[in-house]
Amino acid sequence: MKPSVLVARAVFPEVVERLRQHFEVEDNPADEVFDKPELIRRLQGKAGAFTTGSVVIDAEVLDANPQLKVVANMAVGYNNFDVPACTARGVLCTNTPDVLTETTADFGFALMMAAARRISESEHYLRRGEWHKWFYDQFTGSDIHGATLGVLGMGRIGQAIARRGALGFGMRVIYHNRSCLAPDIESQCRATYVDKERLLRESDHLVIVMPYSPAAHHAIGAPELALMKPTATLTNIARGGIVDDAALARALADKRIAAAGLDVYEGEPAVHPDLLKVPNVVLTPHIASATVATRRAMADLAADNLIAALGFGPNAGKPPTPLNPEVLRP
Ligand code: DGY
Repeated sequence: MKPSVLVARAVFPEVVERLRQHFEVEDNPADEVFDKPELIRRLQGKAGAFTTGSVVIDAEVLDANPQLKVVANMAVGYNNFDVPACTARGVLCTNTPDVLTETTADFGFALMMAAARRISESEHYLRRGEWHKWFYDQFTGSDIHGATLGVLGMGRIGQAIARRGALGFGMRVIYHNRSCLAPDIESQCRATYVDKERLLRESDHLVIVMPYSPAAHHAIGAPELALMKPTATLTNIARGGIVDDAALARALADKRIAAAGLDVYEGEPAVHPDLLKVPNVVLTPHIASATVATRRAMADLAADNLIAALGFGPNAGKPPTPLNPEVLRP
């Protein structure tokens, strides 16, 4: 008998079909967002789950489903998984690194440029029919080329953004991270390590790409925003909760900083109402990895992980991107 798996959110039908070659699949083509009791119910009898970042796998879900062996996230971020709780129960967790790095870096750069050059704000003005003449300081923003790019969180995506800034736009790149990069990677990215305070004080354009953890909650709040230049922009493509959205909305309204670009929010899909009121912020609905090719690559990698973790396919027993590989050891 084939093992059963849950595909907890809607995904490419071709990927579901591939899973059906190995598993009894309960999928979710209507893309319902299950609350916890419903998720627990749907997971009954399932050996694996294909998840996205909105599907929370915690101790309660695991304890109600002791048969679960693997949770495969279609995302590089995995703060929806309690990895230690999974490891303690022998449940493998996987994510989708690498396949989205360049796409996500493109988007981070685009959002930063849109904020700096006031693209959303000026488009809304034009659409409202308010554009009656050209004038010398109309929607003047700040330059990207030659400016100082600050990267908070220098993993794969942070490095890809740094390369774009340094090599494509002649930016000076500074970064802050849990640890310094190896000198060869620093030199490929032409990036210099600085402490967090210096990063905040010196960046013309700050891009946040660090992973979320409880320790990173509100890593950027009112005290940090107060250190930034009044001409600076802030872009968050990492996770909601890293930035204190209420404090950011206040800083934008008071022109403490010039502009922001946000793709992620505390409590998304809800967006802090004060952010919706300020014009100098570009707001997008968590789409940094959303190109057709990249979303498909992410779905394929999550499926590869699920198939291999449950002992099928060419990589049987060796899922490509495990988060807690210790679970796989005999
Ligand atoms: C990721 O891969 O972590 C993106 O944010 C999509 O969830």
